[in-house]
This record gives sequence, structure tokens and C-alpha cells, in this order.
Amino acid sequence: VFPKVRNICCIGAGYVGGPTCAVLAWKCPDIKVTICDLSQPRIDAWNSDTLPIFEPGLSEIVFEARGRNLFFTTDVDNAIAEADLIFVSVNTPTKTSGVGAGVAADLCYVEAATRRIAALSRKGAIIVEKSTVPCRTAESMRQILSATSPQEGAVFEILSNPEFLAEGTAVEDLLDPARILIGALDTPRGQLAQRRLVEVYANWVAPKNILTTSLWSSELSKLAANALLAQRVSSINAIAAICEATGSNVFEVSNACGLDPRIGSQFLKAGLGFGGSCFQKDIFNLIYLSTSLNLPEVAEYWAQVLKMNEWTKSRFTRGVVKKMFSTITRKTIVCAGYAFKKDTGDIREAPAINVARDLMEDGACLRIYDPKVTAESIHESLKGFTYIDWATASAAGPWDLPQAGTYTICPSLDAALVNASALLFVTDWSEFKGLDLEWWTATHAKMTKPAMVFDGRDILNTAECAHLRKIGFGVEKTGVGH
Ligand code: NAD
Ligand code: UGA
Repeated sequence: VFPKVRNICCIGAGYVGGPTCAVLAWKCPDIKVTICDLSQPRIDAWNSDTLPIFEPGLSEIVFEARGRNLFFTTDVDNAIAEADLIFVSVNTPTKTSGVGAGVAADLCYVEAATRRIAALSRKGAIIVEKSTVPCRTAESMRQILSATSPQEGAVFEILSNPEFLAEGTAVEDLLDPARILIGALDTPRGQLAQRRLVEVYANWVAPKNILTTSLWSSELSKLAANALLAQRVSSINAIAAICEATGSNVFEVSNACGLDPRIGSQFLKAGLGFGGSCFQKDIFNLIYLSTSLNLPEVAEYWAQVLKMNEWTKSRFTRGVVKKMFSTITRKTIVCAGYAFKKDTGDIREAPAINVARDLMEDGACLRIYDPKVTAESIHESLKGFTYIDWATASAAGPWDLPQAGTYTICPSLDAALVNASALLFVTDWSEFKGLDLEWWTATHAKMTKPAMVFDGRDILNTAECAHLRKIGFGVEKTGVGH
């Protein structure tokens, strides 16, 4: 029924569809891979020298495979019609209105894509859920496909193949995945379709790392994995608050705990809280699922992970205001980093947005520097606040800006720090790490005194904190009491 896969279509050219299928094309030169999207600017960017997303190592892969067996197009219909395997990699954001607003996943993009597949796909095409979806979405897709396909007695095989890549390390994660998960129905057709997708991944992934499960386990595993990761971050952030109050150091505590192999050392870094497009959305998804299954205690348990994250973000800002003599009105504060983590230009749910908004509401004149985030996305995230361009802001002396609660985008960290009262590390960019003593001394000299450093991303080690204090800085590091 299902021929060997020779032609793949990926619907959705975003952070997942783009890198995932670019790597697939690169590793499987015999398979034609077409990544399609409704957004013309996005596809144009994929076809240009400047890709629409920044991921270390991605452009080299795209440039090598593009035009050979990798294609980007807005001709979604044709891409679907040609394919024998179709990845659905569209966005599944949290609903903003209607039933389940604020918690349930908005499946309108999945449904729209499914309807196009029903209308146009060739007989025997395998459909693969790549998007993160609520449990049993494959069943809804199957019903839509069967009910709307023009093919007589059409039966569609749907697989679940959730993506576990993290932004900033997408290419390494894709080239050497901890596991590939493929869920299928336990029917002969389901198993055969599953085998076809296993064969594709087997081109570069070791068989022991390709896991096959039932469809529903696979869908739920994706939500569970993200919930468990986020839960670890909230747990360590809860411990961080205790550390600050007791004069202990959360990085020593997490190291001590993480060395126990039953706990493990990863994902125990305390800081500003988690951001990114998925953790919050997927936990909301789990909360909605639990509530609809009449499991209120389970829903409440996961809700607490999100509550702790919100509290962590606002606790950081409250700490800044408190240490700056309880007023930051018209004080120049530098936000070093804006992305939700290093090595990405993505700011979806970035803690920096909360910090920036809260500080501006308190009257700060904010200077933002990030090596990858575009000015356009910063503006989009700070709608309603007053923007002052760099030429105007840098010409003004300390306290000279006419208006409190404004922001400026700066060309470099060095430039941003002139006359600033505080430096906040908000993203863990490598370029902020290991700045030498000379740099710090010169920085102290050009800042307004008392100059403060707030480290929300474990940029400074203990020795550096001590050096900075010796220079004259006030230093506060999240999770470290003193
Ligand atoms: P994204 O918003 O970056 O990309 C989705 C793309 O799909 C958009 O470009 C949009 O224009 C396109 N699209 C929507 N409907 C379409 C349609 N009917 N036809 C053609 N194109 C259509 O989203 P993303 O970050 O790539 O996430 C996609 C899915 O993958 C989500 O379910 C997300 O939860 C999941 N996921 C994301 C990550 C991540 O790191 N971002 C990791 C794992 C899983
Ligand atoms: C996360 C998961 O790690 C991926 O496996 C998953 O595929 C993806 O979500 C998804 O479904 O979208 P991502 O959000 O890209 O990936 O990045 P992470 O490295 O998980 O970081 C998320 C946030 O948690 C960042 O803001 C990061 O700074 C924060 N974090 C992470 C911590 O505060 N402490 C840690 O120890 C780890």
C-alpha cells in the first residue's frame, strides 16, 4: 500500500518545519523535500541568503541542499499533490478566545492543512503530525480526511512524530537526536506506514534511537516531556528563592543534587524563568486535557509550574527596583539580551518582555541590546511603550530623557552602558560571559554611580562577582544569597 518514501512535503516553514526538513533533505539526497508555507515573506527568506530564523549551522545545510533536493514554495497545493509523505508542521498556539480560551490549543491551522491534504493528496500518502497537538488529534484529522476526501472509500494513515529539538541547538538535536518517536495505530496499515517513516530516519539515526509506540502515547509523550522539563526549571527556581533568603547558592545546590544520577544535572539552571513558544503553551494544553478528563488535582499540579514561572519573572523585576532604592524612575537600565535563550533570535514568551514592560511601567529608561533579535520584533513586543531612537537617547546625559518609561535599541553592549545605572543579564548569550577585569573597570567608570549588575542568567561566577564588588559595583545574582 505504501511505497518507499521518495517525495516529502512539509506544511509549515517555521522554527520546526524549516530546520527539521532541511536536515532531512541534507541527509537523504534521494528524497525530494518540499517545504511549503502560506507566508510569502517567510518562503522568500528561506530562498534568500538570509534565512528567516537564526540557528547555528542551519544556513550551511540549507545552502547545500537547496535546489538539489530541497525546495521552499508557497505552492502548498502542488507540494501536497506530489508527496507520498506529508509532515504537518503548522503552529498550534493557545486559543485567545472562545471555548478553552487561554488554555486549549488552537487547532485551526492543523484543520486547514488537513482539509487541503484531503482535497489534494495522492492515494496512499502518509500523513505525519509533527506539530505538538492535544492527545487524540490524529483521530480528528482522520475523520476530516475521510469525510472530505474526493477519493472513493479513502483510508488515510496518520502517524505522530513529535519534534523534540530545542531552539539554538536545533541542528545538533536533529543530526543526533536523543530519540525519534513515531506513533502509529496498531493495525497492519498503521505498522507499515510507521515502518516507512522509520526507514527515512534510519538514513542517519541509529535504530536503537528510533522509538515506535501507539499513536496516543506518542502524542501525549510530547506534552509530557515539555511539562517535565518545565517542571524542573520551576522547581529549581523555587529553590533559588530559598537560597537567596538563606545565604546559600542555588548553583552549588543544583550541582550537588544533579550529581545524583537519579536526578541528573540538566535543566536545573535557576534564573529568570523559562520562555519560548512551547513550555507554557504545552502545559496549558495538559491542564486543559486534565480538566476535560475531570482530573482537577492533576490540572492544578501542572498549573503550579506556570504560576512559579510567572512569579520568578516578576520576582526578578521586584528585586531590581528594591535594590535601586525602590525607585527606577528615569534611571537608565540596560537589558543585556532579549531572546528567550542564547543562539536564537526568537522572543516568543521571552522573560525579557515581562522584565522590560515591568521596568518601564515603573519609569525606567530602558536600553536593550541583543545580538540577534530584530528591532521589528522588539517593537512588536513592546507595543504601547514609547520608543526613543539611539541617536537621541545616546546624546542625552543621565536623567536627561524627557520621559520616564521608554526604551531604546542599542548597537552594542558597550555603547548601551554609557551613563547607565544598572546592567541586567536577561539572556545567556556567550558573548556576555568571561568579560575581563579591564572591561568591567572601564564599564564601571562610564556608568552612573552606584552602578548595579543584576545577573538573572548565571553569567558571572563567584570570583567575578567578588571582583566586581571590589571595583565598586553592587552585584545581585538570582539564586545566590549574600
Ligand atoms: P511557526 O509559527 O514558526 O511556524 C508555523 C508555520 O506554519 C508558519 O510559518 C505558518 O505560516 C505556517 N502555516 C500555518 N498554517 C498553514 C497552512 N494551512 N498551510 C501552510 N502553512 C501554514 O511555529 P513553530 O515554532 O515551527 O512550531 C510548529 C509546531 O511545532 C507547533 O505545534 C509547536 O508546538 C511545535 N514545536 C515547536 C518547537 C520549537 O522549538 N519552536 C519545537 C518542537 C515542537
Ligand atoms: C524546549 C524543549 O527543550 C525541546 O525539547 C522542545 O522540543 C521544545 O521546547 C518545544 O517543544 O518547543 P526550547 O523552548 O527551544 O526547547 O528551549 P529550552 O532549551 O528548553 O529552553 C526553554 C527555556 O527554559 C529558556 O528560556 C531557557 O532559558 C529556560 N531554561 C532551560 C532555564 O531557565 N533553566 C534550565 O535549566 C533550562
